[in-house]
Amino acid sequence: MKYTSVIFVCLFLFCTTGIVPAQSYKNAQHHQCLKCHSNQSYSFMNTVKNKVEKRLMNPYFIIDTVGLTHGVHKQFDCTDCHSSEYGTYPHQATLKLQPLSTCLDCHGGDASFATYHFERIDEEFKKSVHYKVYGDNFTCTKCHSQHTYKATARTSSDVLEIVDYSNKMCLSCHNDMKKYKMVSGHDNPKLIQVHEWLPNQELHFAHVRCIECHTEVADSLMVSHNILPKEKALKKCVECHSANSRLKASLYKYQNLQKRSENGTLNTVLANESYIIGSHQIPLLKLASILIFFIALCGILIHGIFRIIKKK
Ligand code: HEC
Ligand code: HEC
Ligand code: HEC
Ligand code: HEC
Ligand code: HEC
Ligand code: HEC
Ligand code: HEC
Repeated sequence: MKYTSVIFVCLFLFCTTGIVPAQSYKNAQHHQCLKCHSNQSYSFMNTVKNKVEKRLMNPYFIIDTVGLTHGVHKQFDCTDCHSSEYGTYPHQATLKLQPLSTCLDCHGGDASFATYHFERIDEEFKKSVHYKVYGDNFTCTKCHSQHTYKATARTSSDVLEIVDYSNKMCLSCHNDMKKYKMVSGHDNPKLIQVHEWLPNQELHFAHVRCIECHTEVADSLMVSHNILPKEKALKKCVECHSANSRLKASLYKYQNLQKRSENGTLNTVLANESYIIGSHQIPLLKLASILIFFIALCGILIHGIFRIIKKK
């Protein structure tokens, strides 16, 4: 009895002093920043007035904490990327001027990330309309938050989730007047009007990614990054609505999805009668069209025979 209680006490001490503090160290640092950066408002000690004040947080500086814990960089502390001088508030003004690492700074030429082809992505991105118009002012982080990015298309087996995640990256700017104007200096074209020619827009935007129509499929890449000028965007319905849909080479090319396809779920989508244009046929109309064809053929034959007879 004595021994078990000793063991329990030791275990308790070990947990509280050894393991727990070591683990929560990281969270503690996160916690300190997120005390302000995950809320609509923040409090700080105004040392001039010598009292605590409450202010509104810039909504674009509020970090999505759920996204943070699911993102690829979840192991990082805030100060692994940002200067540790952010530990004090008010933050020093000159911290704004410090450059932050880009994706390529950390991932370029690193063999452990070779499957992602970061360098090829960079090449493709440099050909895109965004880079052509805005150059280095349009960075990878305009689409990818380093805080919350998660390689969804590669890891998820749910098409709708993949589409939603990807499209939100585009819509976060194309549907956000302020963010779009910050980049371009003019108002954003209304996407619903621009795509008026597309029937059932809501359904399409939930089932296909913007990049399906706005990029060329690059075979060696999972996700093509060359956003083409609008004149080159895909408008032909049959490119997708056919048995040989281009979605097979883009949206559905991931192994995680192909596995699903072996179970039959994707095949039923692609083989869906209403999905393939031309497969939707009404038997009576089909019969009628065959009849009309034969009547026309007979007409031509009879006409031809009479002409030959007349010539003689
Ligand atoms: C007391 C609240 C508070 C704490 C704690 C805090 N911040 Fe901030 N932070 C702010 C506010 C408010 C802003 C908006 C700009 C300003 O007022 O300086 C800001 C701005 C920023 C910016 C954007 C700077 C810019 O203008 O580009 C970064 C990056 C940042 N904080 C990082 C951090 C990090 C990292 C930590 C933790 C080490 C941290 N902050 C802790 C309140 C806080
Ligand atoms: C993997 C690197 C990385 C980590 C970790 C990171 N940040 Fe950032 N953070 C960035 C980059 C890069 C930017 C600039 C984004 C841009 O250029 O649009 C940024 C921007 C910001 C901004 C300015 C608002 C914005 O989104 O542009 C704030 C505030 C901020 N970070 C706070 C934090 C806090 C708080 C943490 C910890 C919970 C944190 N960051 C962790 C890389 C990181
Ligand atoms: C400060 C360096 C740094 C920056 C900047 C950075 N990353 Fe990372 N990234 C890492 C490290 C280190 C890991 C591995 C994290 C781990 O294994 O927990 C990682 C992991 C990843 C992964 C997951 C790899 C895997 O197979 O698990 C992806 C995808 C990724 N980063 C994409 C990006 C993108 C896109 C950007 C730019 C928006 C970016 N990273 C910016 C350092 C960085
Ligand atoms: C115009 C928006 C945009 C820009 C700019 C952009 N990306 Fe992406 N990127 C995407 C989208 C959309 C995806 C697909 C998201 C998903 O489901 O993973 C993606 C996916 C990725 C992936 C994961 C690919 C895979 O094989 O799983 C990496 C890595 C990546 N981007 C890196 C970059 C780098 C590096 C840059 C800058 C040179 C960049 N991206 C610029 C939109 C963009
Ligand atoms: C089914 C294919 C398709 C899908 C899906 C699609 N687009 Fe388009 N988009 C087009 C075509 C085609 C045009 C050119 C329309 C025209 O010029 O009449 C276009 C035009 C645009 C333009 C140019 C607007 C202008 O006039 O300056 C933008 C921006 C745009 N799309 C963004 C998006 C975004 C963001 C998404 C995802 C939410 C998306 N598109 C989804 C086919 C598509
Ligand atoms: C941070 C803001 C931002 C993000 C994120 C963004 N774009 Fe854009 N995009 C712009 C701006 C600004 C323009 C206008 C460029 C110009 O003036 O020609 C533009 C232009 C376009 C055009 C029209 C090109 C033309 O010929 O006029 C298309 C298509 C487009 N974007 C698609 C996308 C897609 C697809 C995504 C997501 C993968 C995306 N954008 C993400 C800001 C953004
Ligand atoms: C980028 C590929 C793509 C393009 C281009 C495209 N579609 Fe679609 N369309 C889809 C997908 C994916 C669905 C959803 C299919 C499903 O899973 O039910 C869909 C659904 C539809 C539906 C609804 C079918 C139903 O089951 O209710 C109609 C109607 C439709 N598309 C017509 C068109 C027309 C007309 C065009 C050309 C103007 C077009 N689509 C262009 C991919 C595309």
